[in-house]
Amino acid sequence: MKTKILTILKQNGGYVSGQELCNQLGVSRTAVWKAVKQLEEEGCRIEAVRNRGYRLMAIEDGITQAQVGSRLTTRYMGRNLVYFPETDSTNIQIKCLAEAGSPEGTLVIAESQNAGKGRRGRSWSSPPGCSIYMSYLLRPKILPFHASMLTLLAGMACARAIQEETGLEVKIKWPNDLVLNGKKICGILTEMNAELEEIHYIFTGVGINVSQTEFPEEIRETATSLKLEGGENVSRSALIAGCMKWFEHYYELFLLQEDLSGLKEEYEALLANLGQEVMVLDPAGAYQGVCRGIDRMGELLVELPKGEIRTVLSGEVSVRGIYGYV
Ligand code: BTN
Repeated sequence: MKTKILTILKQNGGYVSGQELCNQLGVSRTAVWKAVKQLEEEGCRIEAVRNRGYRLMAIEDGITQAQVGSRLTTRYMGRNLVYFPETDSTNIQIKCLAEAGSPEGTLVIAESQNAGKGRRGRSWSSPPGCSIYMSYLLRPKILPFHASMLTLLAGMACARAIQEETGLEVKIKWPNDLVLNGKKICGILTEMNAELEEIHYIFTGVGINVSQTEFPEEIRETATSLKLEGGENVSRSALIAGCMKWFEHYYELFLLQEDLSGLKEEYEALLANLGQEVMVLDPAGAYQGVCRGIDRMGELLVELPKGEIRTVLSGEVSVRGIYGYV
């Protein structure tokens, strides 16, 4: 109900009478009043004037269910939304929801995490107030070995949402780190529950550095935030809604053919190292080559010095520019 009230107040701009809200929502005046009080506690300034009604004056950059929900333009992504002021990890929480039967598109958002997970068993620093921590659930009817492409879609969606919201030229470091000026701005962690032929569920966790001005020692050299790179006053709720919008768009295109043939060019336009020398850190031996884009399965194409093209599978190796992290 809070989401609906906030949406109505935003759309209207002026006063909306209590009775009008009751009629639209099919609830009592007391219920409306209680929901308005809760919205105020969550950072919305709402003026209540006798005989005129309620008017939205201002809204803090919160990421509660109502604040994000009132910005969503999707059909299903984020429509079932769970918000935690603090949790262990949104990936852990979305897994519980997946096991309990939550629908595709379910989104978990947290203001902070006390056990944030990164890739390769690393932790993900997750203080409150400056970042986005979210995970969403998918139940695609695709082969499990095609699932890694969903992480590439997540990278594209977040990159497009950041570009749209901030105007910053964020790029993708294959397969799915987002980078700005040579530093990491966003990390993505996809996990899945599957059998050989069938995916039960899959979820993607996204961490976007929005307004940090400092980072823990171990990532200080490689991490940055939108604020540090010039993205002033970025609205986290708008960014989350943008990620959901773009993901839904790319996901639908992906499902048509179960590969990236319709999205390859767009992905490559976002690729940080396209046409540049990269170092492929393969456990079987590192090698150097020129990044030539991706194929329709999302594998990276690297041209070796003698002209042979090698495909690099995601998850298998890490790829860097020859002069550093990107
Ligand atoms: C990486 O190592 O680059 C992936 C980082 C993924 C972090 C996000 S934050 C939201 C979600 N919950 C987690 O515990 N991890 C992911």
